[in-house]
Amino acid sequence: MLELRGKVAVVTGGAGGIGLAMGRAFAAEGMRVVLADVEKPALSKAAAELGVLGVVADVTSEASMRALAQRVYDAYGAVHVLCNNAGVGPAAAPPIWEQEIGDWKWGLDVNVLGVLHGLRAFLPRMIEAGEAGHVVNTASGNGGVAPIPSAAVYAVTKAAVVTLSECLYGQLGGTEIGVSVLFPGPHMLRTGIFTAERNRPERYARTTAGPAPRTADEVAEAMRAHGLEPEFTPVEEVAGQVVEGVRAGRFWILPPSERTDSMIHARAESMRARSAPTYLQ
Ligand SMILES: NC(=O)c1ccc[n+]([C@@H]2O[C@H](COP(=O)([O-])OP(=O)(O)OC[C@H]3O[C@@H](n4cnc5c(N)ncnc54)[C@H](O)[C@@H]3O)[C@@H](O)[C@H]2O)c1
Repeated sequence: MLELRGKVAVVTGGAGGIGLAMGRAFAAEGMRVVLADVEKPALSKAAAELGVLGVVADVTSEASMRALAQRVYDAYGAVHVLCNNAGVGPAAAPPIWEQEIGDWKWGLDVNVLGVLHGLRAFLPRMIEAGEAGHVVNTASGNGGVAPIPSAAVYAVTKAAVVTLSECLYGQLGGTEIGVSVLFPGPHMLRTGIFTAERNRPERYARTTAGPAPRTADEVAEAMRAHGLEPEFTPVEEVAGQVVEGVRAGRFWILPPSERTDSMIHARAESMRARSAPTYLQ
């Protein structure tokens, strides 16, 4: 069991949504929390609300993540829990061969290299310290369990987060550092992910206008118009699972869900039987 009280937690994408909920839950456990994000006003508000350190940091930049690590080590001298949680998804979801390269680069840079930059900036010192610690990488059921073909960029990046986390687990054996891969859910969460375009930097700009991003409630409304009743999981529930998972050293932070289990079985069975991937979401 990892003792959390008094330890230091760093959460990327901590200005809102799941990251902020994790920060709040860690603070409630008596941890010293650092929230890192690119969205300055939201970050200042979040850090002030929790009474914790907020650091502007861009996970797509190795230099920015190294500066974040330096700032945290200067402030607290240690890091015990690292949550690589920042994530985005482009609003446009055309076929793969028509999806703009800017969409691919943005998604891959934030969701995959962002995790890698976090690991490269923090892990060497966490391992060297020899103290018990933990890394949580935020994946998604989309890609992490089975892909939604109509949201391919996101699915590809989250599949990569799962594989990266599995490899990391394999490589960290013999150290004091545990690993978790987080699948927020089992339902969607009412967070800012649906309007992630607000954080797309100019260098990943699309050459053609994509669809206007829709908020979580607008997505829910559109689902109802198609006769589907959307379900939401509260962010606090996910944050609670993270605290419990980190404490217990659980690799899969994958909430119980019959639908998820049947997709896992169907995917594994499709591979075993060499049959078509009919489990796609
Ligand atoms: N909301 C869901 O239904 C859901 C489901 C599965 C997985 N997730 C994952 O959960 C994680 C958190 O997302 P969320 O739902 O809380 O959305 P969110 O938009 O509320 O939070 C994501 C945060 O990441 C920050 N961010 C974006 N680009 C960044 C960058 N380059 N550097 C640093 N920070 C950056 C944003 O400013 C934002 O505060 C993401 O990895 C997302 O893919 C969300």
